[in-house]
Amino acid sequence: MGHLKKFIEKFTNSKKTTNQEIVLRYNKKEQLKDKIVLITGAGKGIGRAIAKCFSEQGAKIFINSRTHRDLETLEKEIKDNGKEIKIFNGDITDSSTIKKMFNELKKQYGKLDICINSAGYAKFGNIESFSKEDFKKIIDINLSAVFSCIQESIIMMKANGDQGKIINIGSIASHWSERGGDGAYTASKFGLKGLTESIARQLHGKKSKISLSLLSPGVVDTPLTNPDQISKPDWLRPETVAESALHIATAPANVNVFNITLFGTEDQPFGK
Ligand SMILES: NC(=O)c1ccc[n+]([C@@H]2O[C@H](COP(=O)([O-])OP(=O)(O)OC[C@H]3O[C@@H](n4cnc5c(N)ncnc54)[C@H](OP(=O)(O)O)[C@@H]3O)[C@@H](O)[C@H]2O)c1
Repeated sequence: MGHLKKFIEKFTNSKKTTNQEIVLRYNKKEQLKDKIVLITGAGKGIGRAIAKCFSEQGAKIFINSRTHRDLETLEKEIKDNGKEIKIFNGDITDSSTIKKMFNELKKQYGKLDICINSAGYAKFGNIESFSKEDFKKIIDINLSAVFSCIQESIIMMKANGDQGKIINIGSIASHWSERGGDGAYTASKFGLKGLTESIARQLHGKKSKISLSLLSPGVVDTPLTNPDQISKPDWLRPETVAESALHIATAPANVNVFNITLFGTEDQPFGK
């Protein structure tokens, strides 16, 4: 009973956010001013769009992928726009690369506010002929590398006042199988949902303000899904996914926008 009374008092006494304050927040530019943001897989597709969007909002961006040229072109674009960016080139399926990346981040900025795990890979095929090597390759990047990045992020965020946001790029395949032949990818993305949920549960309720979120898009027009860049007007744009990431990243420090799932209306969701 005493607990309930304290709970009610806490909420009735807390300062209420007015509608006007909410409108101001929506219209605000530089919503991520001076926030330090690590984005894996930022060379292409969704990660690249998030990097541009967050940089526009004033964040200092630290980007990773394997193809140096992709990082260099993004670095130029962002610097030409007068914003700050650092690049870290490397394969994050190698755990020593992840260690080096976080050491470099620490050296450059000394803290981490937001981590976006976007690096990923997909391959589909019949179960009879799907190789164990491909299965492992998918799990290594879509799940194991994310696990290590979450671990390192939490260590840095705890040292920075036990706060920060970790956004994992899942997929609608985190929630249902999209098609036959997507077993390895679906297993990796279901696994990512479980990992995100479990770590969020471990942190929440223990006064930690580190939030973990799963951002789950349907088909997005990126080099992964559309390597020949044929016009796909009905598919989601990477920029649309970036807007959802921004929504998660700008939620108040004590709020976890845990799960956003978005897909084009042309998609046939929920298992077809
Ligand atoms: N596109 C979609 O329809 C869709 C839908 C739902 C979810 N997703 C998820 O969204 C994320 C991004 O996908 P995307 O469509 O943007 O793919 P993308 O266009 O292929 O971009 C993936 C990025 O990850 C990097 N990457 C891949 N393996 C890496 C590794 N081992 N180490 C470091 N970087 C690596 C790639 O660069 P390098 O190859 O140069 O390293 C690239 O910059 C993935 O997790 C994907 O599963 C995509």
